[in-house]
Amino acid sequence: MSLPDTPVAPDTDELAAQPNRTHIRSFVHRRSHITQGQQEALDRLTAQWAIPYAAQRLSVETAFGRTAPLILEIGFGMGETTEKIALSRQGDNFLGVEVFNAGVGSMLKRIEASGLQNLRIIQHDAVEVVRDMIAPASLAGVHIYFPDPWPKKRHHKRRLVQPAFIHLLASRLAPGGYIHCATDWENYAEQMLEVLSGETLLTNTAEGYAPRPDYRPQTKFETRGLRLGHGVWDLIFVRNDQIAS
Ligand SMILES: C[S@@+](CC[C@H](N)C(=O)[O-])C[C@H]1O[C@@H](n2cnc3c(N)ncnc32)[C@H](O)[C@@H]1O
Repeated sequence: MSLPDTPVAPDTDELAAQPNRTHIRSFVHRRSHITQGQQEALDRLTAQWAIPYAAQRLSVETAFGRTAPLILEIGFGMGETTEKIALSRQGDNFLGVEVFNAGVGSMLKRIEASGLQNLRIIQHDAVEVVRDMIAPASLAGVHIYFPDPWPKKRHHKRRLVQPAFIHLLASRLAPGGYIHCATDWENYAEQMLEVLSGETLLTNTAEGYAPRPDYRPQTKFETRGLRLGHGVWDLIFVRNDQIAS
């Protein structure tokens, strides 16, 4: 899927250059265009709707002011899908994690325009957010929609859906909680299926790929892609009752 700002491949080995870093990031910092409206939303609305990253467990009840099933969305981009899902599932709390300013600014604008009350944002690397802020067995669901495909083989190590991260995510799911991934890159879909199927805490809800559930709206990119004959693959796995290690 093409986005306004495309990831830039790094030319040095990140871990070698930064020995304190524990994982290879699925994104690369780059200068990206931000509109005046997005910047204005960032300046004015961040304090109200965003939660700062901290290396400590998040109090979900304090953050949302209520107790409800918690759905984590990783990499919401411009927030189009997130807004629609959060509006249609008002009984759930949504925690959206995204790294780039333009996307966060856009999501903040959407929260204000549609009066959403059940969505909070953390602007930080999702791997660290899940590791440090999300308690084990606390999530009702995880959405990872069209993550950066990193198509070149030498960049596959940057893909978000890797065994270690999926194991971490699975440990944060409550029993019966789900992980829902979608991609329009066949090779990444195959990797997702292999990685998710290989995680012993998870069980596939389908024989292989799942049909797109009604709650996930088709995006504009996806509609265009499908018209051009491109595929889209959904994968929905649930956490079984074993205790996470
Ligand atoms: C290809 S876009 C998809 C956006 C959106 N989910 C959609 O379907 O339109 C992937 C997004 O994931 C974000 N992202 C990548 N790695 C991330 C990470 N480790 N933590 C948070 N966001 C991340 C990127 O900034 C980008 O906005």
